Amino acid sequence: MDPSTSSAITLKINDAEYTLPVDHRTTLLDALRERLDLTGTKKGCDQGQCGACTVLLDGRRSVACLQLAVAAEGREITTIEGMAEGDQLHPVQQAFLDLDGYQCGYCTPGQICSAVAVIQEHAAGWPSAATDDVRPEAGPPPLSPEEIRERMSGNLCRCGAYVSIAEAVARAAEVQAESTDTPEAAA
Ligand code: FES
Ligand code: FES
Repeated sequence: MDPSTSSAITLKINDAEYTLPVDHRTTLLDALRERLDLTGTKKGCDQGQCGACTVLLDGRRSVACLQLAVAAEGREITTIEGMAEGDQLHPVQQAFLDLDGYQCGYCTPGQICSAVAVIQEHAAGWPSAATDDVRPEAGPPPLSPEEIRERMSGNLCRCGAYVSIAEAVARAAEVQAESTDTPEAAA
């Protein structure tokens, strides 16, 4: 390993640690897929345009094809493989399954990772380009189909499954809001 071009790094992915030598030019996407066999994250355009490679970095959306693996060291990386808890699907995964939020499924891991972050961003009150009133005192806007489409617009679907994807995101947001409203959740 030439230290001028390569380094040993440790990546924290889905609560597990992986140490591997990488060329400094290796993207996080290639490290996941080619080096760690975490092939749930998909490569579409490989230039930041399609969202197929979306993962969460410290809970925020990131396209892994534009992220160098060395720069992801020390971050909490969540991929589609880390969404479920054992046999229990994440509510977003379940909603995509229940509402057929896919056709071929190639874009689906990225869509789901994005949707998880979209729901969190919306719940935290972040406005989008579709938000009419962005004053903090206005509070979060309803998660309308227009809001969902705008917030998910970085994730392309060549099958055109957008109608059911938007429905699945809305369903998952409702389920998650209901679960945080329950007395047990509040306790
Ligand atoms: S593969 Fe990364 S955005 Fe398309
Ligand atoms: S389901 Fe085929 S690309 Fe989206």
